[in-house]
Amino acid sequence: MPLRLAFLIVGSTLVAFLVGFKMATMLVRQNTSPSMSFLDGLSRLPIWKFDKRQYDKETKKGVWNFMDEDDNERSRHAIVGGVYIRNHAPPNGSILDIGCATGTLSDFLIPTQTYEGYDLGCEAIQKGLQKRPTVNLTCADAATLTPSRTLYDVIVFNEMLYFVDVRAVIERYRVLLRPKTGFIMVSLFKFLQLKGKKMMKEDFARENITAIVHALLKPVNKVEIIGETFDGKASWCIEMLRLA
Ligand SMILES: C[S@@+](CC[C@H](N)C(=O)[O-])C[C@H]1O[C@@H](n2cnc3c(N)ncnc32)[C@H](O)[C@@H]1O
Repeated sequence: MPLRLAFLIVGSTLVAFLVGFKMATMLVRQNTSPSMSFLDGLSRLPIWKFDKRQYDKETKKGVWNFMDEDDNERSRHAIVGGVYIRNHAPPNGSILDIGCATGTLSDFLIPTQTYEGYDLGCEAIQKGLQKRPTVNLTCADAATLTPSRTLYDVIVFNEMLYFVDVRAVIERYRVLLRPKTGFIMVSLFKFLQLKGKKMMKEDFARENITAIVHALLKPVNKVEIIGETFDGKASWCIEMLRLA
């Protein structure tokens, strides 16, 4: 009898474990499925949780150097700075770069334009200051920082909106745009094909973030870059927007 009871307890524990495991894997799959609903996606913003300590550690080791050096990444900066800002901002215009990392964008501006960059990654800012000692770079959080001016000609969110509450950040900064002429630049990345990996919900972030940005600002123009990364084929969408 005690043996039968022991079998019953072990058996039911095993069944409960297997059912629980199956349900957990189904939930994980649901959360990472490409068919994730639009509203579900919005409720999960920010898409990527930003781990400042890890990012600082990786920046120190050089893991993120490619953002400042890779051809695709520099092309993106060249379009934001060397095309849109050059063509549409005044030669003496003021540019605010939120989530600027090492300040790569400043390489592509007209020297008479004023550049101010902020990033939560203090190591990235340090690296930027070593490489570009005359550029105005500060370590600070987009959610709380106080920029030096009350108005800017251009505000840039270059590959950074995944990490923040998009609505709160856009609402916080759009009031700093020079009325009528000021504009915002947003760049967002998306994998088109991944090498040997399954797509995750993060790989579908762009549409959700873009929907929020478009609800708050008026899209004016955009350019898409398609290139190869070490993880597969990717696209960077670079968009110019104005106050609605
Ligand atoms: C993918 S990198 C892009 C860096 C740079 N804008 C570029 O285009 O090369 C995203 C950057 O956003 C920064 N970031 C993330 N959350 C932030 C926050 N709350 N405030 C300021 N910067 C933030 C990160 O530290 C990181 O440097």
